[in-house]
Amino acid sequence: MINIGSYDERIKNFSWEIAEKELEYKKGDIINIGWYCSDRICEMGKSEKIALYYEGFGDKEKSYTFNDIRLAGNTIGTFLRDQGIVAEDRVCLFMDRIPELYLSFLGVLKIGAIVQPLFSAFGDESLLVRLENAQTRAIITQRKHLSKIRKIIDRLPSLEYIIIVDHNPAKELKEKEIPFSLKNSTPVEEMEIYPTTAESPSVLHYTSGTTGQPKGVRHVHYSLISQYLTTKWVLDLQDDDIYWCTADPGWVTGTSYGIIGPWSLGITQCVLDSGFSAEAWYKFIEKYKITMWYSAPTAIRSLMKAGDEVIKRIDLKSLRHLASVGEPLNAEAVIWSEKVFGLPFLDTYWQTETGSMMITNYPGMKIKPGSMGKSFPGITGVVLDAKTYEPITEPGKVGLIAFKPGWPAMMTTYWNNEEKYKEKFVNGWYLAGDRAYLDTEGYFWFIGRDDDVINTGGHLVSPFEVESALLEHEAISESAVVAKPDEVNMEVVKAFITLKPGYEFDDDTELNIMNFIRKKLSPLAMPQEIEFMESLPKTRSGKIMRRILHAKEWGEEIGDTSTLEDD
Ligand code: WTA
Repeated sequence: MINIGSYDERIKNFSWEIAEKELEYKKGDIINIGWYCSDRICEMGKSEKIALYYEGFGDKEKSYTFNDIRLAGNTIGTFLRDQGIVAEDRVCLFMDRIPELYLSFLGVLKIGAIVQPLFSAFGDESLLVRLENAQTRAIITQRKHLSKIRKIIDRLPSLEYIIIVDHNPAKELKEKEIPFSLKNSTPVEEMEIYPTTAESPSVLHYTSGTTGQPKGVRHVHYSLISQYLTTKWVLDLQDDDIYWCTADPGWVTGTSYGIIGPWSLGITQCVLDSGFSAEAWYKFIEKYKITMWYSAPTAIRSLMKAGDEVIKRIDLKSLRHLASVGEPLNAEAVIWSEKVFGLPFLDTYWQTETGSMMITNYPGMKIKPGSMGKSFPGITGVVLDAKTYEPITEPGKVGLIAFKPGWPAMMTTYWNNEEKYKEKFVNGWYLAGDRAYLDTEGYFWFIGRDDDVINTGGHLVSPFEVESALLEHEAISESAVVAKPDEVNMEVVKAFITLKPGYEFDDDTELNIMNFIRKKLSPLAMPQEIEFMESLPKTRSGKIMRRILHAKEWGEEIGDTSTLEDD
């Protein structure tokens, strides 16, 4: 059962002031996401309501009320402030999905510093480039991730504090390493919240492009306005809901809708910090009586693969609303979820850069399985002609997804890279970098990305980053990386390589290279397949033609090869 007004009703007379009013915010006021997600909810009389149910490896369970998260945010914020961290310093969160990750997020924001969440499975090289670019001043982490930081610390002069949340006193600490235990700290009842305003930076998420190093997407505290309203209207969260967002806060879904959206609405949410298993996921829903579930197509496809038998053994009747993001949600997955859960997964489309949902299957609207839906109220979304950059009015014609700038959660720049940021705008439109078409009723149908970025299981991987890391392997002379189709992950990373003289390609070399990338970058960036070539296809000017390799993987026509090297 859905509780919100109809799409047509909402779109008429829409204004972001609706959210501003509900949040009692007026232009020019102080707006601090850390405060809105905890102190304000307590002031509204929900101090004793559960904010977080956490379950980790080995059935470790914890729960926190809104007052607990308010105090924890204060305690962590005050600790950081006492160390000397000030407004706009970048503080990286490099932790598994443990409670400290969620609580530190609030603490960092409360002191006006910028949160830089990074996926804890990142290897030392992935970590290095992102910390270097952001000139990060502090990193909050767990003992288990310390070795990766120790490996790169000498190359990071700006990194002054390495804060360890689970330090073992029997172990020695090195320079800059500081233990911090939330459990053993005296809770800080009151603190001075830093007076951030609409334009103050809040979160810095790194995302991958085709060329160059990852870009730091800079968000501001005002992003709360659209994160709050999209959570309320699309995820349809109500006071008695139990919500589960399966995304890791290393990625934008895990912060916009895994922290800010639900907590700014005072909603109870659940976190499961363990690997994927269909049975464990269903049991988690049963145990916590989850009502609203926001997930991703790869997870849904994996659940489909696990079969329907397991569903029959588990009570999933608490579920009342499902949504998905991150990759194309195929029609079969929507139809399957209606069959087994009695509910369709509603597809939503957005990006790290947009900060909040842009195109959605708005609850109550007619669902067309396989379509991303329509623009959220207040969002002007179009498909542009790739040559003229004029909106295409003809249904079915493929063009570039673009939005009229001006929604509250829009990024304000790429960190230290204003030039790349400016390239995202043409003719007054923000170019998302994806291709789609509109049907006669104005629904968006996703076609693909407009660049070479690989979307594996909803995570964007830059071919450039993987190619550069491959070149650091002793045996590799040249490399080219493309997406390869995959039934579950939609795409996986495939590498083509040539070897240096004296090296042979065999199974051991392949495994060795895979491991090398997994450790250096991440398990996501690790090529699932490596193909040895005598030489890579190149243009006359020597540029590797990924296009040809891509076409080969996807069984497509190769197209114009007139600029190919002719030897
Ligand atoms: C893709 C994740 C098809 C798209 C929130 C986009 C999607 C990129 C969808 C952003 C969807 C996201 N259907 N493709 N519903 N949602 N994408 O920055 O290519 O990690 O540009 O943000 O994922 O990925 P990002």
